[in-house]
Amino acid sequence: METKHLIAADVKAGAAIIAKGGLLGIPTETVYGLGANGLDPNAVKAIFEAKGRPQDNPLILHIPDESWLERYCEDIPATAYELADRFWPGPLTMILPRKPIVPDVVTAGLDTVGMRCPDCAVTRAVIGLADVPVAAPSGNASGRPSPTTAEAMLEDMDGKIDAILDGGPCAVGVESTIIDLTVTPPRLLRPGGVTLEELEEVLGEVAVDEAVRRLMAPGEQPKAPGMKYRHYAPKAPVTVVKGEPDMTAGYIVARMGEKSGVICFDEFKGYFKGHPVETIGPAADQAEQARHIFEALRAFDHLDVSDIWAQSPSDEGIGLAVTNRLNKAAGFHIVEL
Ligand code: TXA
Ligand code: MG
Repeated sequence: METKHLIAADVKAGAAIIAKGGLLGIPTETVYGLGANGLDPNAVKAIFEAKGRPQDNPLILHIPDESWLERYCEDIPATAYELADRFWPGPLTMILPRKPIVPDVVTAGLDTVGMRCPDCAVTRAVIGLADVPVAAPSGNASGRPSPTTAEAMLEDMDGKIDAILDGGPCAVGVESTIIDLTVTPPRLLRPGGVTLEELEEVLGEVAVDEAVRRLMAPGEQPKAPGMKYRHYAPKAPVTVVKGEPDMTAGYIVARMGEKSGVICFDEFKGYFKGHPVETIGPAADQAEQARHIFEALRAFDHLDVSDIWAQSPSDEGIGLAVTNRLNKAAGFHIVEL
């Protein structure tokens, strides 16, 4: 199949692809998504095939505003609307009880469904015009880092999807925060652009799922099925080094091999002369680090490196999402100084 590269103004062409059961790359504020009509089981199956995604990993539904929640969810708690008022459109996915109209293939048979209203006017317009919810996982091939530009998504999906709508680089850079509202207290399943601290302001107590901070043992089931997979991983093994930035930079310099690559903060680039280096932003700027972490991980697949060392961001605010993605890319291979 030939994949069309559409510009952001091609809302009609994008909506037509969704309406006829096709696959469309969609920009969002977090990462690019691989979208299809979320009410059409065959279209949804095609998403799993294009990504090579395990069937037991459910998809989330994208909607243009909170009024669509009732179409697909039931027993919606008041807190869902409080969160929607504060954070939508934006990088927050809510897990809610689903209505029977949502096909089993979307939810992998679960009785809940993830709902998200992305902060991207073009994509909301496409969904509104197609008048169906758009099921969309991140637009990477299963296991690879999520794409934050149309070019990165085409690396994985060229020839496998009908078209991609190019909305430029993603403003947030890591996937949405996932909060499960079907349990008490609400549970953070995946950290993202809406921070734990912000959720606590609205919800009070929030539980943090174990899978956010550590590797699941074989057989252990995280609440978000996707969190159990090795993920975001470049081909070379990654070691994350946690601690004060000048300490971690010194530690890496002392141990790196001839063909080691490095992911570091801008200030430390000079420490690693002669090595492939990907900078992710200043040590103190976590939002900038979020925008660059996936591109940094992807970049090493085009470089000849034996292994990769990474300076760990701190885990406050959106840093919790950045460290979660980096730690997963490293298979939780972490050195703490
Ligand atoms: O920012 C995002 O959320 C992006 C953009 C495209 O919107 N989408 C995204 O989708 O990251 P995906 O499929 O790559 O990640 C969704 C995660 C998976 O880990 C999946 O297991 C989990 O959400 N999930 C989906 N439905 C769920 C449910 N009903 N209960 C628990 N976890 C669920
Ligand atoms: Mg994903």
